[in-house]
Amino acid sequence: MNAISVRDVYKYFGTLCAVKGVTLDVVEGEFFGLLGPNGAGKTSLINMISGLSVVDSGSIEVNGSDVSKDYLRARRMLGVVPQELVFDPFLSVYQTLKFQSGYFGIKHNDSWIQEILGALGLDEKADSNMRSLSGGMKRRVLVAQALVHRPPVIILDEPTAGVDVDLRQGLWKFIRELNERGHTIILTTHYLEEAESLCGRIGMLKKGELVVVEKTEQLLQSSEGLTIRLLIASGDCHLPESLNSFQTKLIPGGAEIIVPNASNVEEVLAHLRVANIKYDSLQLDRRDLEDVFVSVMRSGKDG
Ligand SMILES: Nc1ncnc2c1ncn2[C@@H]1O[C@H](COP(=O)(O)OP(=O)(O)OP(=O)(O)O)[C@@H](O)[C@H]1O
Ligand SMILES: [Mg+2]
Repeated sequence: MNAISVRDVYKYFGTLCAVKGVTLDVVEGEFFGLLGPNGAGKTSLINMISGLSVVDSGSIEVNGSDVSKDYLRARRMLGVVPQELVFDPFLSVYQTLKFQSGYFGIKHNDSWIQEILGALGLDEKADSNMRSLSGGMKRRVLVAQALVHRPPVIILDEPTAGVDVDLRQGLWKFIRELNERGHTIILTTHYLEEAESLCGRIGMLKKGELVVVEKTEQLLQSSEGLTIRLLIASGDCHLPESLNSFQTKLIPGGAEIIVPNASNVEEVLAHLRVANIKYDSLQLDRRDLEDVFVSVMRSGKDG
């Protein structure tokens, strides 16, 4: 069954089309990454999935329930960690989670609340007032709040923005475990190395359009190769024409040359020697999700 099914969805804000004909299925049990630059439409799409805003056209189902026709059931299937910090400053952490359970009609939830508090490193803050918490701690509570009703589908909208290394690691361990227990996870993040290591499949939004949906493995394979990064102290870099058969670009303080495989490195170095290009240091990097992301966003085409 599909955990999320989005069909030709559009969202307008005045004349701005924030989400343009997005169609997407996320299968039950998946760990799905929704990526895109600022303003691409990720949060707009998530808000429509969670029923916070309505679609202008198209339809959305969560675990088979239509988000507008069967709102209550669809909402119960879903836990959303919102991008913006929203909380009641007068409640303690524990009360916040207790009230949230109440909204879903759950009475005896203490052992689950304790488990969530422990997993998110919040046990010592249980009785603290929300307004006294640091930004990162507040974000932990938002994650806890999304989980109180044990939703089968969990959407996290940039959950690690502004949180320390400790929580990141703890949070990912916990979210991975939830995924292993069968929960479907949808994650948006600007930390592409997080997406690369966590998500089995990735969708990329560009100006409201879903331009790529692919298995992470496949995306990485499609961009096999190495980046040769040259740093030149004088900052004066003119690459020879003999390198035109490779993808090259000037970067601050040097240049990058992308080669299909390791055997091309020697060839590139030979061309640099012949052209008498003197570099101060040279770095070799495997192509990663960030490279794929950048090239997709530049071209707007698949892969
Ligand atoms: N309530 C609103 N009223 C008017 N415009 C809006 C509203 N919400 C979003 N937008 C616009 O819709 C576009 C998509 O915004 P959205 O918040 O969905 O992007 P995003 O991909 O989540 O970006 P970010 O990575 O910065 O969180 C932006 O141009 C934004 O300014
Ligand atoms: Mg957003």
